[in-house]
Amino acid sequence: MPTKESIDSFLHLIDQSCKEESLISLTASDPWTKSNVKKVSFKALNIKGKYTISKSYLLNNQQFTESLQISEFKNSLVAIIENYKQLNAKLKHQNLQLLINKKREGSLKKRSTTNKEELHHNKQKSYLIPPDASFLHKLDLSTKDGKIKDKAQKKFRQINKFIEVIKPHFESLPDQAHIYDFGCGKGYLTFAMDEYFNQQLNKNFTIKGIDLKKDLILNIQKLATNRPNLQFVYGDINKENPKRIDALIALHACDTATDIAIAKAIKKEAQLIVVAPCCQKQIRKEMASFASSHPMLKHGILLERQASLLTDSIRALIMESKGYKTKVFEFITTEHTAKNIMIIGQKTNVTSSKSAEISQLKAQFGIREHALEKLLN
Ligand SMILES: C[S@@+](CC[C@H](N)C(=O)[O-])C[C@H]1O[C@@H](n2cnc3c(N)ncnc32)[C@H](O)[C@@H]1O
Repeated sequence: MPTKESIDSFLHLIDQSCKEESLISLTASDPWTKSNVKKVSFKALNIKGKYTISKSYLLNNQQFTESLQISEFKNSLVAIIENYKQLNAKLKHQNLQLLINKKREGSLKKRSTTNKEELHHNKQKSYLIPPDASFLHKLDLSTKDGKIKDKAQKKFRQINKFIEVIKPHFESLPDQAHIYDFGCGKGYLTFAMDEYFNQQLNKNFTIKGIDLKKDLILNIQKLATNRPNLQFVYGDINKENPKRIDALIALHACDTATDIAIAKAIKKEAQLIVVAPCCQKQIRKEMASFASSHPMLKHGILLERQASLLTDSIRALIMESKGYKTKVFEFITTEHTAKNIMIIGQKTNVTSSKSAEISQLKAQFGIREHALEKLLN
């Protein structure tokens, strides 16, 4: 018979197995609500002798993996039990199945067995940018002997995820392509592109990072001296007028800096545009008077989110009207950054007017003009 105690007993067994390091895996499936995440899997790992948990799930056809401390894993189980009807756990000597009913009572089945699998050891995961890539040490992300520093783990995964996302698009660029990184900051992604495409794939891309911050640029210029295809320039992207742009990236370039980047790329008929917008203040300001009496948008945070959605929707529509096939998606989990929307535009020969859709959106939210429209006029 289903009982509340069965859930407690399941949690107790999991807690115990974490202490004994005998939990091998746990899977939660069959969500109560129509969720985009149908299944969440946890696997115990032995990382350099430390027992930790790797969590993975599929969201919008993208696989996400996070590493959890045992305490984080145990805390997350409360929400998992709330949201899923079935939990299956594999311990060293026992399999557990917990089925949860609508009253949030559970039926627990235990089966003694010997699970032969060893803990998943810290197999050297193969990264597109390996931890011992020399630029990671230069940028203070890794130690001299090629180990990623604790404080830099997230950044390291973010860099690899970025290369993984752009790889299929960039591989089709001509070998001598000119690539710009507008608002390159400390140059993590600029270096990573040179490392992967030029050093590893032997492309001959010319890669240029531009940023307003003089000190940053002077510093990374010194670090890039042995990379002939990688340049860093100190300046305002507003004033930069490259002769040729084959691909442009602008990740988290503030406010309308993203629009400036997109506009320059469109004007140069770039093959690829990759942007991850940052703050979308321009549209928010445009919406202010309309929003003040709106039942939903009078709340600052909702206005901010709506302004972001509108800013990026209109950007994507404008890019489509200029012949770019666009893809808007979450490129990294919110664990890394909440600003995780990416727009990728791939040039095609097909243009289609989007002016009716853009006008409708603007009228609906009291927007006069989107910065990108102005820049392209
Ligand atoms: C949040 S950082 C992102 C850095 C880098 N793209 C990354 O994702 O790691 C944004 C950068 O954009 C630069 N930036 C903003 N407006 C700019 C402009 N008009 N011209 C050049 N750089 C700009 C800032 O100086 C800052 O370094």
